[in-house]
Amino acid sequence: MEDETGTASVLVHNENHSLFEDAERVVKDEVLGVVGTRKGSLIMASQLINPGTPRIDEKEMDFSMVFLSDTHIGSSTFQGDAFNRFIKWINGEFGDEKQQEIASNVRYLIVAGDIVDGIGVYPHQDKELIIKDIYKQYEEAARLFGEIDDVQIIITPGNHDAGRLAEPQPAIPEEYAGDLYKLKNVKFASNPCMVGLDGINVLIYHGRSFDDFAMTIKGMSHQNTDIIMKELLEKRHLAPIYGERTPLASEVEDHMVIEEVPDVLHTGHVHINSYKKYKGIHLVNSGTFQSQTEFQKIYNIMPTVAQVPVLNQGTMKILKFN
Ligand SMILES: [Fe+2]
Ligand SMILES: [Fe+2]
Repeated sequence: MEDETGTASVLVHNENHSLFEDAERVVKDEVLGVVGTRKGSLIMASQLINPGTPRIDEKEMDFSMVFLSDTHIGSSTFQGDAFNRFIKWINGEFGDEKQQEIASNVRYLIVAGDIVDGIGVYPHQDKELIIKDIYKQYEEAARLFGEIDDVQIIITPGNHDAGRLAEPQPAIPEEYAGDLYKLKNVKFASNPCMVGLDGINVLIYHGRSFDDFAMTIKGMSHQNTDIIMKELLEKRHLAPIYGERTPLASEVEDHMVIEEVPDVLHTGHVHINSYKKYKGIHLVNSGTFQSQTEFQKIYNIMPTVAQVPVLNQGTMKILKFN
């Protein structure tokens, strides 16, 4: 580890099982405290301490917010029919009585990246696109999201969107998404970002660093991003592994640090829903509206499609549109 003296070697003995398990979750570039005793040039660790996240008090909310990500508009695997049912629902024209009641409470819709499929994101992507022009993909997104009435929409970028890829990612540039910018109820924000919505603080992060966690740490995978999100909160950093799959820009200030504890941590990217409440914080991955792609077939990844998490007056509900 790097410390004030330069570097220090820390030994974690595998006989101390719980400590050893803690050590297995340590990643390359996190901030970590070590309690231990010095033995020659080694520090024999007895405890590892993360920056940590305190338990938070639940806040009252008398409205709903809806979480989307990874719609991948423009892809031949975008599930347009399911998405149209979703739009009908949010406008109060679809679903049973209970679902329509939830829809009537919706004040905010957050889209956590990969709103379109993009161009040239991976080799031979053009074979899986029905809209092969990035501008037209955003036009189609504007047409679809433009049908949503009376809901404030917040859009943040993912790795399939246009603009700078390195995180922190600035908002999707207007030059690509002009029609979306024209919609009065749409606001654009960066990835990551923290938004306060009538007192509820939502930390939005697309989730690129999940790839690094799934590759590096035993027991972590794309299927259980709730476990990774919990780890991010304890490490107080959204991408604490540098130099692997997550492109990170060097900035004067580290915008990937989780400064404030959010009420909701909203992520996407892996196309698999997950939800857990941890220390009073809602950890939610909003899945996708894209069915299994050729790439996912090779790796046997089964996406959870058109399952939309809704935080309805403080309780998370998953509504299905497929
Ligand atoms: Fe995606
Ligand atoms: Fe993504």
